[in-house]
Amino acid sequence: MKFFIDTANLEQIKEAQALGILDGVTTNPSLMAKEGITGQDNILKHYVDICSVVTGDVSAEVISTDYEGIVQEGETLAALHPQIVVKVPVIQDGIKAIRYFSDKGIKTNCTLVFSAGQALLAAKAGATYVSPFIGRLDDISADGLNLIDEIRLIYDNYDFKTQILAASVRHTMHVLECAKIGADVMTGPMSSIVGLLKHPLTDSGLAQFLADHKKGN
Ligand code: G3P
Repeated sequence: MKFFIDTANLEQIKEAQALGILDGVTTNPSLMAKEGITGQDNILKHYVDICSVVTGDVSAEVISTDYEGIVQEGETLAALHPQIVVKVPVIQDGIKAIRYFSDKGIKTNCTLVFSAGQALLAAKAGATYVSPFIGRLDDISADGLNLIDEIRLIYDNYDFKTQILAASVRHTMHVLECAKIGADVMTGPMSSIVGLLKHPLTDSGLAQFLADHKKGN
């Protein structure tokens, strides 16, 4: 399972990269705004900065919602750096644009996916990644993990190569359940990654080992 971090915060990205387990980064317009990155030039520069501190794929989202606009914006983003993956919403013009990018060898992440039908069309269009938002489904009392399960079944039935990128991951149990189902990638906050390390028996065991070592020296 690949681990992506879902943030535009450069310090957190560096911290995750330093752990040695990071496979990529996802961003979206809200995450960019949260970091105070505004204006086209600053936004493009920030994507390049992110690419320079990680080794894996970096998703950069288009703002346009019409086919021509998405294609133009996506080509600009893809030309920034070989690690850039163009993130496109799962709307009609978005699917059309994903097919265009796929035919041109430009990697895509089909985003805002909330149903298996949307994921099926994204795969048909040749998306590199599909991003089902599991946390946002859970927020409205739907079952985000069930969606991952459905997409896994459909993709396996037809051997689709599109990678399931479990997005809107909120906590460690999302990560673990996605791993059990077989999501290819998860993207979440740093807390959902380092939280996997937490165990009281590890803490008490380590404290005991250190105390015993001290007694013997
Ligand atoms: O980047 C897309 C997705 O991961 C958003 O997550 O927490 O805003 O629902 P969230």
